[in-house]
Amino acid sequence: MTPLTINIHNAISALSSALDLVGVDEIMHGKRVASIALAIAQQLHWSDADCLSILHAGMLHDCGVSKIIEHRQLTETLEWEGAEDHCIRGALYLSECQPLAYLATAIRYHHTRWEDLQNLNMDECTRLHTNLLFLADRIDVLQAPMLCSNAILINYPEIIARIQTLSGLLFAPVLVDAFAQIANQEAFWLAMEPDYLDEDLRLIGKNAPATLLNMVDLKDLARLFSRVVDAKSPFTVEHSQRVATIARHLAAEFGRSAELLDQIEIAGLLHDIGKLRVSEDIIDKPSSLTSEERAMMHRHSYDTYRILRRVFGDSQIPFWAGLHHETLIGDGYPFKTQQNALDLECRIIAVADIFQALAQERPYRAGMHLENIISDMQARVTDGHLDAQVVAKLIADAERYFHLAISETE
Ligand SMILES: [Fe+2]
Ligand SMILES: [Fe+2]
Ligand SMILES: [Fe+2]
Repeated sequence: MTPLTINIHNAISALSSALDLVGVDEIMHGKRVASIALAIAQQLHWSDADCLSILHAGMLHDCGVSKIIEHRQLTETLEWEGAEDHCIRGALYLSECQPLAYLATAIRYHHTRWEDLQNLNMDECTRLHTNLLFLADRIDVLQAPMLCSNAILINYPEIIARIQTLSGLLFAPVLVDAFAQIANQEAFWLAMEPDYLDEDLRLIGKNAPATLLNMVDLKDLARLFSRVVDAKSPFTVEHSQRVATIARHLAAEFGRSAELLDQIEIAGLLHDIGKLRVSEDIIDKPSSLTSEERAMMHRHSYDTYRILRRVFGDSQIPFWAGLHHETLIGDGYPFKTQQNALDLECRIIAVADIFQALAQERPYRAGMHLENIISDMQARVTDGHLDAQVVAKLIADAERYFHLAISETE
């Protein structure tokens, strides 16, 4: 098996697409912020490394936002008093993710006014980086209602004027001046259209130095995104992390190599990343879902598959993660994959996912006792949904797996 090495720029841009799904109708916010920030940084002749760093920070700046309701507040008003929460959360996630920890401070203060940044102990370069994110973010909020319509070409002078009134207060004058220079060009605004934006970002990726992530870094990155997904609902706290751990242990019992175990763990961490698009009203609903809500919920594993294919290319990780709702008899989703095409790894993640979910409280039921979980899992084997051997391994050491599913982590 070839070792897994991933280009950090490609990983960040694919994962930022996942974050952008939280916007639901208002998608690509992160990518536009990244591109606006980059254009201003280039206008100011920042170094290539600083330009790439602001681009990545832009793509990830809202990684503290998991909930659609919070995303809405942040993209509807210029200043919102609840804005700091997601900055603190995002900075915490990033500081604990080694390959991206250098972005934590810029994310931490990306809703702090320029005048207030003066009172904080940080170097001027960091101050400008974090404030550039704030500026780009607010420019996007002002332009978003006019996106993909010619209205932007008529109204952009008003946006420039509005931002200029905030120079020295919310934003650094040097950044506002650079923005005013480039925003005077129609091309600046038209480049925000989805097709053009995607093309530009792909091109930047092609030309960016290939920083490859090793397995430790990759797991860190996967853990970061699992935290964003699990933070969508109080009912799914640590769900992905625990599914990953259970799946890893099960796979080890089947004698899988250390390298494969790492990949299974990553697939477990990211199996629900497509859920970022699902409204928390649906995830937290205490009663049964309407057919429309169920359809929304059921698309998450396909979204997972597509997002992970962009990060991991043709490795097995997108399959293992994206097929976690398939069944042996082929009545799962989204591919209706049959038994013979379901790798052991897919079956393991499916078992780990159901086992952890049954042990954990859900909006419509309490967490289940171990004996009831075991009989539920056995019934799913009889129905042809879960793999008998995998479930048998789990039951053989049920207490330990139950501990991995819900106990306090030491
Ligand atoms: Fe934000
Ligand atoms: Fe799922
Ligand atoms: Fe899950």
